[in-house]
Amino acid sequence: MRSPPTPRGPISERLIAVLRGESPPDSLAGSDLPVFADPLADEDLQLALYLCYELHYRGLPGVDDSWEWEPALLALRRELEIRFEDALRCAVPPADDPARAAGIDLALRAIAEQDGPSLSSYIKVSASLEEVREFVVHRSAYQLKEADPHSWAIPRLSGAPKAALIEVQSDEYGGGRAEWMHAELFARAMRALGLDSEYGAFLDVIPGITLATVNLMSLFGLHRRWRGAIVGHLALFEMTSSIPNRRYGEGLRRLGFDGDATLFFDEHVTADAVHENIAAVDLAGGLARQDEALANDILWGARALAHLDERWASHLLESWNDGRTSLLRELSELEAASAGQVLAPG
Ligand SMILES: [Fe+2]
Ligand SMILES: [Fe+2]
Repeated sequence: MRSPPTPRGPISERLIAVLRGESPPDSLAGSDLPVFADPLADEDLQLALYLCYELHYRGLPGVDDSWEWEPALLALRRELEIRFEDALRCAVPPADDPARAAGIDLALRAIAEQDGPSLSSYIKVSASLEEVREFVVHRSAYQLKEADPHSWAIPRLSGAPKAALIEVQSDEYGGGRAEWMHAELFARAMRALGLDSEYGAFLDVIPGITLATVNLMSLFGLHRRWRGAIVGHLALFEMTSSIPNRRYGEGLRRLGFDGDATLFFDEHVTADAVHENIAAVDLAGGLARQDEALANDILWGARALAHLDERWASHLLESWNDGRTSLLRELSELEAASAGQVLAPG
């Protein structure tokens, strides 16, 4: 990210002004939030929340690191989180009956097998190169920090589920080889597709509906009370990864790409076939066996992921079906403005 993002409404405008030192921190206090028609896709809410969370990851350009624990900013973040959580509970009602630890992996499997719009099938068979590049830009909001939100859970766990989480995360982080970190493999795929792989380079064109999928992980990861949900999120993420990634790789090959462009996707076909069992049985099942009271949260975290992912996939497919960009601006327009490179398959 080279410069602070463009505000998308009054909340992100006030937040960015404060972070840039143009307004005092106390101007965040008592921020009256409006009623959001659709908090799960609201541009202003999701960008403001995303920026609050970024202070816990790589920080923001030109923003002092001490903002991470500034009480006025945390108070705003809490208000945004309350709206986000309320909307999630509305969209994904928590189960009334307590779930049992014994059936957690099967319950997760049932969520994984629910029918939804198949973005991966579309990309495999029909997507244009521009659509695939848009898909990669959307995914960059998470993949360039892949695994980081789930790592917040490590100190919150103990024993067998902690060991399982670290086994998965070790692969995500390249098993000691920086060039094999999944975030780095994704950056290579971006470059192979002629896209800027710098962290946060596309934030200004990534819509709230996509930012919400990343904010969900940050919310779950940063709050110990949501340790069940972040575990359920990771388990479902791993369980729904292998087959779609095979299709994404096939789509890229159909368009003439290979090598660096497909390595990230190919790697996930094999890695996540292993991760899904560790995550479902040892991590999620292990945590539920340790503390059965967390079983419902584990499943709810998975269902929240499924819901936001389905909305996100529908947004992409509907946008493309209508012949418009799924981003906030056309990539070609953005690249023309920044004199982007000419794209050639290779
Ligand atoms: Fe990965
Ligand atoms: Fe994985």
